[in-house]
Amino acid sequence: MLDQTAIAETLGAHYDLAPSPEAAERQSDIYARMSRVLSPADWAIHAPYVEAINRLKAERNAVILAHNYMTPDIYHGIADVVGDSLQLAIEATKVEADVIVQCGVHFMAETSKILNPSKTVLIPDMEAGCSLAESITPEGIAEMRRRYPGAPVVTYVNTSAEVKAASDICCTSSNAAQIVAGLDAETVIMTPDKYLAQNVARQVPQKNIVWYDGSCIVHERFTAQELKDFRDWQPDTRIIAHPECPPDVVAEADFSGSTSGIIDYVTREQPEKALLVTECSMASNISDALPGIEFVGPCNMCPYMKKITLEKVLWSLHSMEGAVEVDAQVAEGARQAVQRMIDMSRRLSA
Ligand code: 13P
Ligand code: SF4
Repeated sequence: MLDQTAIAETLGAHYDLAPSPEAAERQSDIYARMSRVLSPADWAIHAPYVEAINRLKAERNAVILAHNYMTPDIYHGIADVVGDSLQLAIEATKVEADVIVQCGVHFMAETSKILNPSKTVLIPDMEAGCSLAESITPEGIAEMRRRYPGAPVVTYVNTSAEVKAASDICCTSSNAAQIVAGLDAETVIMTPDKYLAQNVARQVPQKNIVWYDGSCIVHERFTAQELKDFRDWQPDTRIIAHPECPPDVVAEADFSGSTSGIIDYVTREQPEKALLVTECSMASNISDALPGIEFVGPCNMCPYMKKITLEKVLWSLHSMEGAVEVDAQVAEGARQAVQRMIDMSRRLSA
């Protein structure tokens, strides 16, 4: 792998990437989707990359699947599909193009590869990890099974393929409660996110839910006290929290849901002010489409998601480096756990 300076030099030799008001103007329709959050000067810097990526994407017969936490230049500029973890996994199964570029973190790229193995799946930065995925190994799953014999293991998709393969079924933040409630067992093991498990335990009191000790470094930093203080200061603000937040934080919120659940909620409710207790790009990405809403209050950056940049996406399409591979046996085990989730989620929502 080349270093960043070498990448910039190589790309500069192949593409015209200097800031360009002309490229910005040519793509003013794209800019219109993010003009509230990106200055014209910044757009003139990003526009040559967006143009080069979209051209190269067509040449390579590639599609870009982007998570809701990508920055607006990626989310609005180059993505073919945007969504939460569940939506991106489902979309990955439908891709007919030769190449998938996953703008998100490594477990998302791995999930796409598992669900659509004949495709080349590229991740623009192999180090785009996730604190939850790093918190657990297959041995952690085995230890939980020893402690709670016979209990099914529901594993969050934010995990490696090996961990998924060692589990019975996966879940995402949008279907976790539904999956747990639908299992024919009194005790259910949830890994690795203890806060997601505790939030599901409140929603599904009929189950005895036990959990592993993982957490998201982005969402665990929010506190109930900061939300209470904010509500005292701005009582007319709608507070919306991701279920990876601790349960006392979720209890302070008016709504909790996956990243796409959050987008659907604010789009439907159109509050005058909204505090999204989640990653910072969420509010930036939806701000132009929802001009009547003022997004206020604190947010936290995910250092892993922010490793994905336009320059790295262009590099991965140019070099075709960063292909995700999964051992065939592991992939099959993981595929079954993810597919069970998709099937059960579909059945229960029908
Ligand atoms: P969503 O499935 O809600 O998009 O969550 C993924 C994630 O990593 C949130 O931190
Ligand atoms: Fe992982 Fe948290 Fe970042 Fe999502 S926000 S990718 S859960 S570290």
